Parts: sequence; structure tokens; C-alpha cells
Amino acid sequence: MKVLVAGGAGYIGSHTVQELLARGFAVVTFDDFSTGRRELIPGGEVIEGDLLDRDAVRAAFRATRFDAVLHFASLIQVGESYRDPAKYYTHNLDSSLNLLDAMREAGVGAFIFSSSAAVYGVPEVLPIPETHPLKPINPYGRTKLFVERILEDYGRAYGLRYVSLRYFNAAGADPGGRRGELHDPETHLIPNLLRHLLGRAPALEVFGPDFPTPDGTAIRDFIHVSDLAVAHVLALEKLLADGESLALNLGASRGYSVLEVIRKAEEVTGRKAAVERRPRREGDVPVLLASKELAERTLGWTLRQSELETIIETAWRWHRSRGR
Ligand SMILES: NC(=O)c1ccc[n+]([C@@H]2O[C@H](COP(=O)([O-])OP(=O)(O)OC[C@H]3O[C@@H](n4cnc5c(N)ncnc54)[C@H](O)[C@@H]3O)[C@@H](O)[C@H]2O)c1
Repeated sequence: MKVLVAGGAGYIGSHTVQELLARGFAVVTFDDFSTGRRELIPGGEVIEGDLLDRDAVRAAFRATRFDAVLHFASLIQVGESYRDPAKYYTHNLDSSLNLLDAMREAGVGAFIFSSSAAVYGVPEVLPIPETHPLKPINPYGRTKLFVERILEDYGRAYGLRYVSLRYFNAAGADPGGRRGELHDPETHLIPNLLRHLLGRAPALEVFGPDFPTPDGTAIRDFIHVSDLAVAHVLALEKLLADGESLALNLGASRGYSVLEVIRKAEEVTGRKAAVERRPRREGDVPVLLASKELAERTLGWTLRQSELETIIETAWRWHRSRGR
């Protein structure tokens, strides 16, 4: 089985390529290296190209016969998506349409999509089940929902089969230390915290303390990137076997507040964080928590690395090894 991984040089994509190769898939990574890095790609073939370049995408499908496509490549910063929605709509929708249309022309009918918990908006129930209303509150989340809708329409009209995986907070790094999280700018809590503890970033901004949570800071559901990667391979194998289109949450169903994460990181690293309090940001919900039941049941998936301590230990090893 041969798969195209769009965005395979990025954080979650590269961990998934590693898992795909380990499970015997032949992999071609398609990436423009805008945020990803060549050194993160664990193996397989590599095409350097931009998904917004329709001809380049088509050419990849003309050159190789793929059994499926996994699509990780998108712009991912919620804050930026408020400031420049045009950039987000153009990038995230056009890149997905170019891929889907090239797949259609080439007769490739299986697609795994990196969606997000952002499709839910403000939780009405916790933990959030897949049947929760889809009311994203920022342009980034809306781009994810629109792609999910496109997949439904392409499924009905052209027979596309797909799994939309709605990730909660991806965190941690390959336990073997070969790859980890490297966004620039980094907007995620754990890498910013660890880089601060390494003396490579200023004091950590903590938003709150007026969230209605026990310690006043936001609670998030962190899932280890290796557990995410395994779920992708299981979803792909199931899709190729039974062709059932699905949307699944990928989270740990266990929440930690920002202060709990800081305390755990201090414990793991033996260092003390300096924290700067900031007022709560617009659009930040107090608690996000996934129901993971459906993913576990349908994929036969179990979490192996998503204890907070493992997440922080693996991420710490990765950041320390970077040397800057
Ligand atoms: N990181 C998280 O916690 C999280 C949570 C929910 C959803 N997601 C989704 O998961 C996916 C991967 O996230 P990530 O954190 O690994 O991001 P990332 O920025 O590390 O990876 C994205 C990859 O896509 C590539 N890319 C971007 N635009 C491209 C284009 N036009 N053509 C070719 N390649 C392009 C980048 O170079 C990079 O390698 C994204 O779709 C994101 O929205 C991430």
C-alpha cells in the first residue's frame, strides 16, 4: 500500500510517517517546508511542492498510483486566523480542494483529514462527543469544518471515503527522541514552557486567573503525538478495509489546567518557571475535553503515551537535544 502524506514534514505528520513506515506502508511526503523540516521526515520518498500549486499536486498523482492520502498541511494559528481570515480560507480550503480534485482525477478514493476540536466551538457538554453541535468560533475552526463538509459532499457525489480526525491538544515527542514539536512562532503551551525552562524563551504567559476552573486557568486535553500517529494508521487501515466514512475525536478524555502542566514540568525538569499573568483572551473556552469512546471502539485504539508525565518527559528530551 502506498500513501501520500501532505504535510509529512510537520509535527504530527512526521510522527505519523514514522508509524506508517513501521506498519509497512510505502510513503511519499508532499511538503513545501513552510513550517515543516526535511530533517523530521523519517523516510520514504519526498516531493517538495506547494498544495496551492494545482499542477504540482496533479503531477504527484500522475507519477505515482496512491491507495490513500493523509492531509496534515494547513495553517494552524487560531490568533492569526482572526487577524487574517482570507489567508486561512484561501490556504486551508484551496489546498484541500486541490488534493481532493487530483485524487478524483487519479481515482484515489481514501482520505484521512487532520481536523480539530476547534470545529465544536464552545462546549455544551463535557466530554465532547462527536455528535456535539459544530459551531466553530474562529476562522481556523471554520476552515476545518468547511473541509469536513466538502468531504461529505465529495463522499455523496463521487464516492470518496474519508475519516476526519478531530485532534484535541497534540503534545509530546517521539520517545526515541528523533522528532518533536517545532512550530515558529510557537503558540502551544508545553513547548513554550519547556523552552522557557531551558532559558530559550522569556517568562511564560499564563492567561486567567478568572476561568471558572479550580485554579482559574484553562483546562485542556493533551494527547501524545505518538498516540495520535497510531490512531491515524488504525483509521487508515480500517478505511481501506471497510470504506466507512467517519469523524472521530482524538483526545485523552483527561484534562489538565495550565498551572497543573507547569507544576508537572517543574517536577520533571527540576527547574522553576517564571510566569506572567495575562488577562483571559477572547474566544478561549475554560475547559476542552474529548470523549474518546468512539475512537477507541471503532479503531480498537488505546492510549499508550498520553500520561502528562510521559508527554512532558518526551518533549523535554526532544527540546534539550535541539541545543537551541
Ligand atoms: N498541533 C495540534 O495540536 C493540532 C490540533 C488540532 C489540529 N491540528 C491539525 O493537524 C495538522 C498538523 O498540525 P501540526 O501541528 O503538525 O502543524 P505543522 O505546521 O507542524 O505541519 C504542517 C505541515 O504542512 C506543511 N504545509 C503547510 N502548507 C503547505 C502547503 N501549502 N503545501 C505543502 N505543504 C504545506 C508544512 O510545511 C508542515 O510540514 C494541521 O492540519 C492542524 O490544523 C493540529
